[in-house]
Amino acid sequence: MSNGKATLAIEGKEPLELDVYQGTIGPDCVDVSSLAGQGVFTIDEGFASTASCESKITYIDGGAGTLLHRGYPIDELANNADYLEVCYLLLNGELPTKEEKKEFDDIVRKHTMVSENVANFFNGFRYDAHPMAMLCAVVAALSSFYHDSLDISDPEHREITTMRLISKMPTMAAMAYKHSIGQPSLYPRNDLDYSANFLYMMFGTPCEDYEVSPVLARAMDKIFILHADHEQNASTSTVRLAGSTGANPFACIASGIAALWGPSHGGANEAVVKMLEEIGDESNVDSAVLRAKDKDDPFRLMGFGHRVYKNFDPRAKVMKETCDEVLSELGIDDPLLKIAKRLEQIALEDEYFVEKKLYPNVDFYSGIILRAIGIPLNMFTVIFALGRTSGWLAHWNEMVSTNSRIGRPRQLYTGSPQRSYESIDKR
Ligand code: CMC
Repeated sequence: MSNGKATLAIEGKEPLELDVYQGTIGPDCVDVSSLAGQGVFTIDEGFASTASCESKITYIDGGAGTLLHRGYPIDELANNADYLEVCYLLLNGELPTKEEKKEFDDIVRKHTMVSENVANFFNGFRYDAHPMAMLCAVVAALSSFYHDSLDISDPEHREITTMRLISKMPTMAAMAYKHSIGQPSLYPRNDLDYSANFLYMMFGTPCEDYEVSPVLARAMDKIFILHADHEQNASTSTVRLAGSTGANPFACIASGIAALWGPSHGGANEAVVKMLEEIGDESNVDSAVLRAKDKDDPFRLMGFGHRVYKNFDPRAKVMKETCDEVLSELGIDDPLLKIAKRLEQIALEDEYFVEKKLYPNVDFYSGIILRAIGIPLNMFTVIFALGRTSGWLAHWNEMVSTNSRIGRPRQLYTGSPQRSYESIDKR
């Protein structure tokens, strides 16, 4: 429903009247969908000013540094809820009652195992395959196991697939890790909570008992919550676009995993730790900042800046607190944390970073916590993918249940005008 009107005046054309929509909060949106019929497109590379859809799931105010899931601030969720509660909220729109939460947790527990044949996929990968490559391929391959629930027009099928993916993601993530270190995979333990079970599958072996530390399990759970959803980011938009074609949900989530892998997106947590290791010492921080400001040097401070946040990323605040908690609880004195804190301090005071509103983002501190937990570097983005699966599924469900139109952007064509083919001997 339109709440207002805008007029677009283009030289040489009649002024065009456009509808303006008002969200619950946030900027108004001008509906430009009628322009194509008038022979005009809009162009917005990187989609900085383009709303690709209407959504009720997550709200971000980048200027204020606010992130709300279904209206609830991220810090309140991270400090009070568990990851599965946040999954329920994202998927269903409301926090669960005790009974609903128990039922949800029970369903997740019952679907944690994967088919024995899935192990064959992992065995087929080279020993040094990147876990993101394995995860992406195996998630896509799940569609070959679950023909029974691929009718995306059926809400029950959508629900079954959603629960399967949330339940099996930790199992597959841990299998990818175990393959990369040549250890046997462990079956999930359904007496453990979601995050504790993940840590057990990651670090346990069949040879001895493995006691999961509650502190680490809680930190892991917080990390999953902080990654659960983030509005129409690159991977979520990829999932929505793939889903708009009617592709099955396993294929759509695999496309999200592929998009997440890039260093500008989920790959940044891995890149942050590599960067801190390269900086190596607090005394080298100043020169790293100088390099980041140099236009002729492609080096950027990883974990800094965000397309939407022009203030502190609210997830980074919780992440930093969790980082301090975990390190002091474990009695770890990580030299990378000292470098990170110094870097943050210098960057926050530096004119270049202040002027461009470049603040630490979610990835800046997550790598240090993951290192403390014992998660290897090449698994960092897998952890992000695991947490983000709930958000991807919430958006996929919202899109499939409210919109059936294929996503199909247009372009500003700057190639050759029409010309005639010349045979090769005349060229
Ligand atoms: N270090 C140094 N300069 C930077 C940085 C940085 N990390 N980020 C942006 N800039 C500069 C950039 O060079 C540009 O300068 P100018 O206006 O003079 O050309 C200006 O700030 C605006 O940057 P942009 O690249 O136009 O901004 P963007 O919105 O297109 O990119 C970003 C956002 C996150 C890709 C970028 O800030 C970046 O590459 N950050 C490092 C990678 C990173 O931490 N990514 C994780 C993002 S949060 C988690 C997630 O979404 O997955």
